[in-house]
Amino acid sequence: MTSEAPIAHAAATSPGTGPGRTAPDAATVAGASAGDPPVALITGATSGIGLAFARELAGDGYELVLVARTEQRLLETAEALVEEFDITARVLPADLATESGIAAVTDLIDNERVDVVVNNAGYGLRTSALRTQPDELVALDRILNSAVQVISWHAAHRMIERGRGGILNVASMAGLTTMGAYAAAKSAAMVFTESLASELAGTGVTATAVLPGFARTEFHDRMSVDMSRWPRIAWVSAEAVAREGIRDGRAGRIVSVAGAQYKLAYVVAQLTPRPVIRVLSNGFRRTRKARRSRA
Ligand SMILES: NC(=O)c1ccc[n+]([C@@H]2O[C@H](COP(=O)([O-])OP(=O)(O)OC[C@H]3O[C@@H](n4cnc5c(N)ncnc54)[C@H](OP(=O)(O)O)[C@@H]3O)[C@@H](O)[C@H]2O)c1
Repeated sequence: MTSEAPIAHAAATSPGTGPGRTAPDAATVAGASAGDPPVALITGATSGIGLAFARELAGDGYELVLVARTEQRLLETAEALVEEFDITARVLPADLATESGIAAVTDLIDNERVDVVVNNAGYGLRTSALRTQPDELVALDRILNSAVQVISWHAAHRMIERGRGGILNVASMAGLTTMGAYAAAKSAAMVFTESLASELAGTGVTATAVLPGFARTEFHDRMSVDMSRWPRIAWVSAEAVAREGIRDGRAGRIVSVAGAQYKLAYVVAQLTPRPVIRVLSNGFRRTRKARRSRA
């Protein structure tokens, strides 16, 4: 590991040293033996679904590497997880809508043992595709799709060498629709993961596409969408998404959908002709636009 070790900051260390102290450097982890705790890297780990994954995996004794953009929040999240679960957590500030941010994560994966990767970071657009500037469309595709593919690629190769590992890619039920650039990127991430899972068969490594429905996180607030009128049945908790995603990953399932209503919707979507999906997507898009303009 060079002086450019990708772990920019150490939030907390192993039990006994307390939050805020310096963690072991990356080389220590690179030399980890089979007896060491498993390591999970989670992107978008400071909020919502990513935080729920971090909490689930911390509860299972995983050492964590938390990735997001906002450094202070990463540090606070890592400290809280260390305090609650008595684990080791480190942070890697990186913007996954940029190539350098993606490279910071793949550098770490190439140089350290990471047993589970959760590609979760993401956001939605406030505007329709035509009202969004092309560079913003590219950035969206980078975080929701390219980052997922590139990080999965690096993780898969390292995991195949070790004969085990799990990749969980958070896509979306929206990826089954035709609702703009977000749906397109999520669909691509989902299809890539399904294909990767087939390619990984027999290697001891699994890939699972996690398809959340609506979950109460910061996601919709960041887009300024008023979701207050959606009925209770439309919602699934971030915790359920993470719990079921991990369970499905361990079972080697290729797609994970949490919530009975979304499991049904997933099946119905497979059976629905594409022109009908387009009509429904368009109606949904108009409703959201109206609610956004009222928000
Ligand atoms: N909530 C839903 O209803 C829903 C439904 C389907 C799918 N999803 C998907 O679930 C995933 C998690 O979303 P969430 O609902 O948990 O949203 P959230 O509460 O807004 O959390 C997003 C996380 O991603 C990080 N992030 C955002 N932009 C980033 C960037 N450019 N680079 C690195 N990290 C970034 C955020 O931290 P920083 O801002 O500090 O970077 C935060 O940790 C996303 O991929 C989303 O598309 C959500």
